[in-house]
Amino acid sequence: MAELKVLFTRDQIAQRVCELAQEITCDFEGQPVIFIGVLKGASIFLSDLARRVQLDATFDFIGVSSYGSQKQSSGEVRLTKDVEQPLTGKNVILVEDILDTGLTTMYLKRMLLAHEPRTFKIAALLDKACRRTQDVKADYVGFTISNLFVIGYGMDYNERYRNLADICVLPTDRPESAHALDK
Ligand code: IMP
Repeated sequence: MAELKVLFTRDQIAQRVCELAQEITCDFEGQPVIFIGVLKGASIFLSDLARRVQLDATFDFIGVSSYGSQKQSSGEVRLTKDVEQPLTGKNVILVEDILDTGLTTMYLKRMLLAHEPRTFKIAALLDKACRRTQDVKADYVGFTISNLFVIGYGMDYNERYRNLADICVLPTDRPESAHALDK
């Protein structure tokens, strides 16, 4: 394995996830919420966040992939797995690993809002705000980062490195291929 530079340690991540969970607990005090994790990248973030939130919470997962070649995502998003419970009238929190261009989140936001939830919020562990092409932002952000390609804590490069406990920077030029296919 190439040498990896740690961007956020497991302790820094745990601390920040705890703070986000407290914010969500305050915002939804006394109300049930549904977390919807975007597969696969958000799975670890969701499981840590959900366990820190002190609310009546359930969770579900949604899957998407982007059309495009290995080298370049076309920006067309396709649903590969839908949610499995009714969202109408519920407090829905979409849980994302990274908000990058915003194409995926915009697609999911439109799709989930069509269910007419009571409230709709977005929690993103990382925000690459400088890469945004869509008018979308997260309500809860773990860390804002520059244009780095990161791996670990659920995030992958060609399906590898998701199981790293720390968030690391891949020491290569930014690999567009990791944006193209399964998350
Ligand atoms: P967007 O549609 O351009 O916002 O892309 C969002 C998705 O691209 C994220 O949910 C990730 O799955 C993936 N992605 C974007 N940047 C990175 C990265 O630095 N590492 C790993 N995956 C990334």
